[in-house]
Amino acid sequence: MQDTSINASFRDDLIEALRRTPKSISPKWFYDERGSDLFEAITALPEYYPTRTEATLLARIAPELAAGIPDGAALVEFGSGASAKTRILLDAAPQLSAYVPMDISVEALDAAARRINADYPALEVWPVAGDFTHPISLPDEVAGRPTVGFFPGSTIGNFGRDGAEVFLRTVRTLLGERASLIIGADIVKDRATLERAYDDAAGVTAAFNLNLLERANREAGADFDLDAFAHRAVWNEALERIEMHLVSLKPQVVRIAGQAFLFGEGETLHTENSHKFTEAGFEALAAAAGWRLGRSWISPAPEFAVFVLNPP
Ligand SMILES: C[S@@+](CC[C@H](N)C(=O)[O-])C[C@H]1O[C@@H](n2cnc3c(N)ncnc32)[C@H](O)[C@@H]1O
Repeated sequence: MQDTSINASFRDDLIEALRRTPKSISPKWFYDERGSDLFEAITALPEYYPTRTEATLLARIAPELAAGIPDGAALVEFGSGASAKTRILLDAAPQLSAYVPMDISVEALDAAARRINADYPALEVWPVAGDFTHPISLPDEVAGRPTVGFFPGSTIGNFGRDGAEVFLRTVRTLLGERASLIIGADIVKDRATLERAYDDAAGVTAAFNLNLLERANREAGADFDLDAFAHRAVWNEALERIEMHLVSLKPQVVRIAGQAFLFGEGETLHTENSHKFTEAGFEALAAAAGWRLGRSWISPAPEFAVFVLNPP
């Protein structure tokens, strides 16, 4: 497996996050082995509509997506996780010769790559463990093949506007001038549906959010008191994003590697943004990054979109 720049800097990032005002950290640190397992549990929750809705939509449009995939192409997936939705494309497009899953969670990537290898013996599988916000390259083995990008799960929504544009531009360079990109994006909708999806009754999303602090204690030498923080998910209508926070339930001091950080009562560590899109907004974002919006499909409510981006 190709390995780029994983996990070298969790502690440094955490220290920087806690020095900021307001305190905020990248959601990429959610995905240790337990975080990836918790995310998979979230995808099955009744309140969490995105995974189900996107998978149903992908299954409906798979023949149309497959028709746009060249013979012998390599499918390159960003943030592939369990590679579950990938199977919909692999089943519909047997002309694919290779699959390149990329993820920061080495354990999840490794397990998914092994399962895909076993279930699709004619397909070459070349996993890339790495952080796609850092420079990445494709495995030499797929050089010269046509490429198609796949970025489901509305993971694009975890970037800010500038970060999303930079990412989409980087992907275009990585995949090559003639590549297309199939991308799943969640659509702006009513507050109640959104907030329920990120604050489920069973508390799985809360456990996912709090796992960041457990990971900090395990891997970064922090001493977070897990009972003194609570999960909060709130729809920020002006910025069209769900925000996840960890709220300090009392004034407290957290220590990491000999450094002390003060939390006031009610102060939060902002752990994730999940931006929601309109079709017009997404088209403008894609254009700014050098892509042209080709086809788009939007599911019935709760609305979720699959867009195909093409070269301009
Ligand atoms: C919201 S989940 C989506 C998983 C899957 N694609 C789906 O649609 O269900 C985000 C995935 O992206 C991965 N990820 C998040 N940030 C990443 C980064 N900076 N570099 C590489 N992978 C990342 C996570 O490990 C996780 O598997």
